Amino acid sequence: MIETESKKAARVFFALWPNDEGRAAMASWQPPLQQLCGGRPTAADKLHNTLVFLGEVEFGRLEALQLAAQEVSGAAFQLNFDTARYWGHNHIVYAAPGTLPKNLTQLVSDLEQKLRHHRFKFDQRSYKPHITLLRHAQWSDKPLPAMPHALWKMQDFALVQSISDGQGVRYEVLARFVLKIT
Ligand code: 2AM
Repeated sequence: MIETESKKAARVFFALWPNDEGRAAMASWQPPLQQLCGGRPTAADKLHNTLVFLGEVEFGRLEALQLAAQEVSGAAFQLNFDTARYWGHNHIVYAAPGTLPKNLTQLVSDLEQKLRHHRFKFDQRSYKPHITLLRHAQWSDKPLPAMPHALWKMQDFALVQSISDGQGVRYEVLARFVLKIT
């Protein structure tokens, strides 16, 4: 949908938004995977991991949404992406972590709990961490080749707005929420 002046809501989601190092490590997986599977790579500056997808939230409620996220008392963690996989149902090649840090699962469940408490609606599908690397890809059930580990050192999470204009979709980070270092 194309954004208009009269639009009353923003399309938003919470995400892990990597630093340059984590982003570059992940982007380095894309050329070899694209050679095998074709498809369209996600632009490097858009690589992220969605934690909770809300969709349309009225502009007037964005401040309350940020306050709700500030109530989350999460702790920093490292996320080690070590496997590239293919989803046949939507033709996506994605990166997945081998193990889920406890601090990450805790963060998602705390965030969901605060959102529910403040009456925000969100996509209830269970959290399966993935980074979309290629869309419109073609592969079989065969495993994809091994990739070098891509480590994301997360010390915050972000509220992101997805903005559609005539050129396509762009993402804007609206706010960041610090995770404490333990
Ligand atoms: P995807 O990359 O696997 O498509 C912005 O759209 C982000 O939210 C994307 O990372 C997208 O995942 C994710 N997302 C999760 N649930 C969604 C939904 N119901 N509609 C659109 N995007 C969703």
